[in-house]
Amino acid sequence: MHSAVSSIAPEWLVVPDDANDLVPGVWPASAVRDADGELVIGGVTAGELARTFGTPLQVLDETEVRRRAAQTRSAFDAAAAAHGTTARVYYAGKALLNTTIVRWVTDEGLNVDVCTGGELEVALAAGADAARLGFHGNNKSVAELERAVEVGIGTIVIDSEIEIERLAAIVSRTGTTQRVMLRVNSGVHAETHDFLATAHEDQKFGTPLALAPTLVARIRDIEGLEFAGLHCHIGSQIFGVAGFRESASRVLDLHQELLAGGDIPQLNLGGGFGIAYTRADTPTPIAELAEGIVAAVAEGCAARGIPVPALSFEPGRAIVGNAGVTLYEVGTIKDVALDTGSRRYVSVDGGMSDNARPALYGAQYSARLASRAGSGEPALTRVVGKHCESGDIVVDHEHLPADVAPGDLLAVAATGAYCAPLSSNYNHVPRPPIVAVADGAARVIVRGETLNDLLGRDAGIE
Ligand code: LLP
Repeated sequence: MHSAVSSIAPEWLVVPDDANDLVPGVWPASAVRDADGELVIGGVTAGELARTFGTPLQVLDETEVRRRAAQTRSAFDAAAAAHGTTARVYYAGKALLNTTIVRWVTDEGLNVDVCTGGELEVALAAGADAARLGFHGNNKSVAELERAVEVGIGTIVIDSEIEIERLAAIVSRTGTTQRVMLRVNSGVHAETHDFLATAHEDQKFGTPLALAPTLVARIRDIEGLEFAGLHCHIGSQIFGVAGFRESASRVLDLHQELLAGGDIPQLNLGGGFGIAYTRADTPTPIAELAEGIVAAVAEGCAARGIPVPALSFEPGRAIVGNAGVTLYEVGTIKDVALDTGSRRYVSVDGGMSDNARPALYGAQYSARLASRAGSGEPALTRVVGKHCESGDIVVDHEHLPADVAPGDLLAVAATGAYCAPLSSNYNHVPRPPIVAVADGAARVIVRGETLNDLLGRDAGIE
């Protein structure tokens, strides 16, 4: 039965023994099926969530976010202590940002990294201590920089020569001292299992290593700018330590050269730690990653005879990705006959407006029947949305029980990172609410949009 469809399934996709299973690591630790087979997250059933808040619905498991934040922090603390330094973890807010999540992660001892004036305002509205915020971005406006300096932001990561001059003007006008880092482009680009190292990386972020000494000299010249160190971020959804090791080695060469001009207390190696979206993904456990990266820096410093700087890291996805689950209701189902078999298309009531990642990056996800356990054989299924676009895929390849029917609830795992932030109103579909679950209770942390929110922007409607 499965052989008829297997030729259109990708190699990595295995037929599960049970198409109702919840793969640990992909789903939040709290995700279980109750005695009736219904999916429960944070102690709340999928049915209750859908009845109370509607679908589509972005569910965020508070315990999972806090656990991952605390785990990441202690992993880096332990690794740093073992190598005679300290480590700070910034939560990369771009992965998912609202005031509630800022409070959760700062409660767990993390700092927060923002990359626009809008993200900065969310962190401030949450009551975050400005001194514990970092500010990135390749095109920060003068107004954004002014605001950041005015609120006393901890660190501004300078991305270009122009930005140095913008900041110089601001600190001289306001008589403030601002701590800054310089983002460099190490030429290492890492993605999942592989990394590429080139002399020149063709992308917009950071400054080339060769230009950095001139820019750092300029920063050091400006009264009111305090140079704290170099910053480097090599990519996202990275599984191993190798890319970080290569990048650290290149950045340490520069760091050593710059020590001739004064102390450099810090080094920021960015984020990018990968997570499991499907059972085929095997990310490196965070403690192993932390130890591997910190050890590489410590060894690199020892080899160069220089002190180990205080380290910082900026994970986003690894904190929130697997804490998010999206609930949808199944609308229509079709079996499409192909030369090599048949593919089942299950349409749900959201799609690329609430999760653009499959369309943007060909990202893979995992789905499960949520309102009940299915009893049918595992059937190769593509979950699609309701948008007017054939690339509107929610889950490209999955085995779902063959008895999935209209009205069932489907859950998609690992939607906590880069789904809500990349959401749109394509086809005039309102954005879903974000609901936090913990200990059997659910509450809205970001309200859903209504059609009136959307129509209200149309100046032609009286
Ligand atoms: N730090 C910097 C400077 C970054 O640019 C990023 C991500 C991070 C930290 C956090 O990376 P993470 O730990 O979350 O991988 N929209 C894409 C990902 C874009 C990442 C942009 N920068 C996606 O959905 O896969």
